[in-house]
Amino acid sequence: MLVMIFQNISRGLASWKRVRVILDSSPELADGEQNGETAVRGSIEFKDVSFAYPDGQTVLEHIDLKVNPGETLALMGETGCGKTTLVSLIPRFYDVTGGAVLVDGVNVREYRQTALRGKIAMALQKSELFSASVQENISWGDPKAGEEGIKSAAAVAQADSFISRMSDGYHTIVAERGMSLSGGQKQRVSIARAVLKNAEILIFDDSTSALDLKTEENLYAALRKASPHSTKIIIAQRIASARQADKIAVLENGHIAACGPHEELLASCPTYQAIYQSQIGEEDDKYE
Ligand SMILES: Nc1ncnc2c1ncn2[C@@H]1O[C@H](COP(=O)(O)OP(=O)(O)OP(=O)(O)O)[C@@H](O)[C@H]1O
Ligand SMILES: [Mg+2]
Repeated sequence: MLVMIFQNISRGLASWKRVRVILDSSPELADGEQNGETAVRGSIEFKDVSFAYPDGQTVLEHIDLKVNPGETLALMGETGCGKTTLVSLIPRFYDVTGGAVLVDGVNVREYRQTALRGKIAMALQKSELFSASVQENISWGDPKAGEEGIKSAAAVAQADSFISRMSDGYHTIVAERGMSLSGGQKQRVSIARAVLKNAEILIFDDSTSALDLKTEENLYAALRKASPHSTKIIIAQRIASARQADKIAVLENGHIAACGPHEELLASCPTYQAIYQSQIGEEDDKYE
């Protein structure tokens, strides 16, 4: 017995030392003072922003971009060009290495992180679902929301009909990481979660890529109706998803190659024209 107790104590001491290292470390991102109360609500501005990951690779250089309250910006560009990185600077998941990101006219470094992130709802590229009921997964967006609120957020996300058809409806348990749902169903549950938060800024990172065009169109129409005042950033690969936005920014080699509405880019931006041609080509192939 004594030997066993001795072993447990020495093991416990070793673990405690490791836990202490983590508890004693100070966070890399220092909190600011701003409590989130701003005169403007929903504006985002990138001012000469450059960013490199800690391993040294520069991903973004001299980005200037402004999104006004209530506007929808679509972000396009080839895979790996830095779209996810660009939007993750808005909730300050990382600090910029040059320039500044302003939310509602205030530098993101000046906010308390909870205040800044309270302004932003984000559906991540890899939808993170928990092993819990559908309802609990959605209510993570706003734990205080009632059943009605959850249902209407799901309706905006075009998820209400498939959820209602499941065996236990909103109480159906989702398998770990959403394994029991299809790709498009997972995406819609995470969109519902973001919509429920009812935030000033909504960011969808490739969140409708698995939806068919009709469902996607219905979703954006419902979203415009449900949250007309929130500013939306939509990362998309398909022109069909991006063209309804107020403006489209094309990211290329870490720079904004062009930014404007669909017609303007189609007339003036070679990269956009190339994306357009390649996708129209695909459509034609289908009908041949
Ligand atoms: N956490 C990270 N640490 C280091 N490098 C990273 C990290 N995340 C992304 N990168 C690198 O940054 C670059 C941009 O990645 P990012 O995820 O922003 O691209 P993306 O445009 O969102 O691509 P996709 O369309 O495939 O989602 C890539 O070259 C990638 O390798
Ligand atoms: Mg991405």
